[in-house]
Amino acid sequence: MQVLAVASEIYPLVKTGGLADVVGALPPALKPQGIEVKTLVPGYPVIMKAFRKRKPAHSYAELQGGKAAVHAATIAGLDLLVLEAPHLFDRVGGPYGDAGGVDWADNWRRFAALGKVGADLAAGAIENYRPDVVHAHDWQAAMTLAYMRFGEAVGVPSVLTVHNLAFQGQFGAAVFAGLGLPPRAMALDGVEYYGGVGFLKAGVQAAWALTTVSPTYAQEIRTPLFGMGLDGLINMRATDLHGIVNGIDTDVWNPETDDRLAARYSAKSLKGRLVNKRAVEDRFGLDKDDGPIYCVISRLTWQKGMDLLSSIVDRIVATGARLAVLGSGDAGLEGALLAAASRHRGRIGVVIGYDEGLSHLMQGGCDAIVIPSRFEPCGLTQLYGLRYGCVPLVARTGGLADTVIDANEAAVTAGVATGFHFAAESADAFMYAIQKANMLHADSPKWASLQRQGMKADVSWNNSAAKYAALYRSLASRKVA
Ligand code: ADP
Ligand code: GLC
Repeated sequence: MQVLAVASEIYPLVKTGGLADVVGALPPALKPQGIEVKTLVPGYPVIMKAFRKRKPAHSYAELQGGKAAVHAATIAGLDLLVLEAPHLFDRVGGPYGDAGGVDWADNWRRFAALGKVGADLAAGAIENYRPDVVHAHDWQAAMTLAYMRFGEAVGVPSVLTVHNLAFQGQFGAAVFAGLGLPPRAMALDGVEYYGGVGFLKAGVQAAWALTTVSPTYAQEIRTPLFGMGLDGLINMRATDLHGIVNGIDTDVWNPETDDRLAARYSAKSLKGRLVNKRAVEDRFGLDKDDGPIYCVISRLTWQKGMDLLSSIVDRIVATGARLAVLGSGDAGLEGALLAAASRHRGRIGVVIGYDEGLSHLMQGGCDAIVIPSRFEPCGLTQLYGLRYGCVPLVARTGGLADTVIDANEAAVTAGVATGFHFAAESADAFMYAIQKANMLHADSPKWASLQRQGMKADVSWNNSAAKYAALYRSLASRKVA
């Protein structure tokens, strides 16, 4: 079976968050299921540089204001279809904005173009290539499904995965004229959204099936609290909605072979973790002692509950624990955490930035990873934590609730606990969980069994890839000729 995936980022080439990890790891995980995935991605400079151009597989004399071409390329083991459109993608900065983080003003054009090309490929634009299913990820790829629905590929089955409902790609009504869709598409059951154009909304409306990245988030987004304005429509589509939890790439994330660690280790012998802990202390300027180091590897945003964290850092330090923070995001939160680090030299270390290698070292050396998110569709850092014996301490929401087993008394006695839960949005509950973790940490054998239990958890893609495969197959059986 052939699946065309469409996405705006893919690990290891372009990554701003978990979306890239998933888009990069799912295709190899689907291979053993007999599913071949080709992923259509924008031709950002780093991607264009990573392969040698040959004759394009498909060309456009004009696509959203300039020439464009689609190239088939295999990069880093991934089968890609790269959309070369220099007027849209050949820019210095990130995938969505300039180096200062300001969104590109023509993002609607950039990702409408991606969607248009996705739909053309679905309709057979490349000779001998007819995908059985099209799988679009998030708002940047969602217009693929609208172009399919209002065009030739209306009979090709499609899936939209919502990785985060907070990002919807909403634009003014004026952009509609530039989309090249028939007038009837500007309607409630088309791309129209609160008087403007909604890219994600259009995808939710048009996709044959919807998925999101954990069963709990799939339920949550049906409520006004988490639905971000789309809960009504999502409820209408409830029978087509599936919650499939993310896995992780267990080769990239393997403490036995990870060369980004100072020392490698396994569940059998956790000794190497101490070497990594000393390296973390050096990198973050922390005092050296045997107490716990809690870490954060995150976008520093309201979604991630970083304001809650910053409101209790003094209390965390007062318990004798230390904190290592790696992240970037809101300037106010960055400033608050940097200020905490200068108030508590040796006890709190903060690195502002994005550092993939350091994130591995932290998982391999810190005692616990804290994730106080207000909402979390899936979350990947708790899965990396489980795999690395870096015990997750998480808000009980979305995928965090689905993947971490709380160390309540029953679970500890039964030997199944893998981490700590606390009520989302509550600083006191967060603090209580820290105290509970401190106590367990002081009991080394109990802590080690918590770590080992987490390391045993199956966080691979195996189960979830099988679920995607089953979904693709059931959709393909409904394909309209
Ligand atoms: P989200 O996609 O909402 O940001 P996830 O937990 O799904 O959250 O994925 C975040 C991904 O980005 C993980 O792979 C995590 O390790 C990585 N990450 C986040 N912040 C940083 C950072 N500052 N440096 C390195 N990696 C980071
Ligand atoms: C989004 C979500 C995160 C999820 C990731 C990958 O960025 O915020 O929870 O893990 O997508 O699905």
